[in-house]
Amino acid sequence: MNKGKRVLLIVSGGIAAYKSLELIRLLKGRGHAVRCILTRAGSRFVTPLSMSSLSEDRVYEDLFSLTDESEMGHIQLSRDADLLLVAPASADILAKMRTGLADDLATTALLATDKPVMVAPAMNVRMWEHPATQENLAVLEQRGVLRVGPDEGDMACGEWGYGRMAEPQAIADAVDRFFQSSRRLAGKRAVVTSGPTVEAIDPVRYIANRSSGRQGHAIAKALADQGAETVLVTGPTALPDPSGVEVIHVGSAVEMLAACEQALPADIVVCAAAVSDWRVSEQPDQKIKKNGTVPSLLLVENPDILATLSKPGNDRAKLVIGFAAETTDVIANATAKRGKKGCDWILANDVSPGTGTFGGDSNTIHLIDAHGVEDWPTMSKEAVGARLAQKIAETLTREQ
Ligand code: C5P
Repeated sequence: MNKGKRVLLIVSGGIAAYKSLELIRLLKGRGHAVRCILTRAGSRFVTPLSMSSLSEDRVYEDLFSLTDESEMGHIQLSRDADLLLVAPASADILAKMRTGLADDLATTALLATDKPVMVAPAMNVRMWEHPATQENLAVLEQRGVLRVGPDEGDMACGEWGYGRMAEPQAIADAVDRFFQSSRRLAGKRAVVTSGPTVEAIDPVRYIANRSSGRQGHAIAKALADQGAETVLVTGPTALPDPSGVEVIHVGSAVEMLAACEQALPADIVVCAAAVSDWRVSEQPDQKIKKNGTVPSLLLVENPDILATLSKPGNDRAKLVIGFAAETTDVIANATAKRGKKGCDWILANDVSPGTGTFGGDSNTIHLIDAHGVEDWPTMSKEAVGARLAQKIAETLTREQ
């Protein structure tokens, strides 16, 4: 079902901005709600009045306008959208997106969003071909930003080449294709673990680890974006709860396992949490006093959540996926781990010091299944989530 999606259309500066009026008309005609942000440069080419007449909504223009901020802040604008579409996307706005500059309403909304973003670049051929633009786009695409166009053709500046914005029809088609492909897990249920676990020593102290939860949270969000009813069982992290996901906050590994079992049955289980291998066997009710002797802690092994959820049985999910954080012999160790845990896929990654994976922004994945190894390029944890959700959708739809 493709109707009723909400598109936040950002119109930046460029002669192609006039085509955005046609784009609004097409998107509205296909049943989407369109809300518009017009940049200062964009307003030199089209008027807010013509945009608001076509979108049947007011047009948002200035970050520092008190009215805009009180009625509808940049956060709310992106929160209310299913897709942020930048058309035309000038070389300037692409550079700002790449570096994370946020000096107006459009760029702030783009920086503040956790929603999918699509860009339709439009610029002079030399600006398009400039290594800066190409590099900016490559980085944005690696982060999961979708692109449509540009086309080749003659330009307003009199030159010929790539840089002309894709036709509104092609952009509207790409938007529809995105919405179709992004609902491929509708009707499926997913359980994802994320973050560290914390194992109490006494009422105030605990054993934990450095997991940020970024990868697990990104996977939960990507599965939800694909339409899966998603439960995220997470240990304590500094991250906000991802939108569109049911989040269960837990502390210990035992609590995490119980919450996962409660969330079953599911079609998909992804164990991305860095579960503590051990817990303190018995915790006193009171804080352990410092009294000159050093206490010793008796540790017992925690349940293996991934292995437990991988066990054959009626409740077993169709796809159970685990991670293998390795520092040596990544593929061999991860392949052995897949057999030991009994899961379907293992996402192996090298977490040696210097790779920056643990707690960092990006990840280099080797996906191991029954058929072999698939090497993924280094990408952001969000892009890993999106690619994994895509692969899960392909696999489950093939098996149906
Ligand atoms: O055994 P190891 O910790 O290397 O395995 C990693 C994989 O197993 C991850 O997917 C992790 O989420 C999962 N795991 C688990 N419960 C544990 C230990 C690990 O679910 N107690």
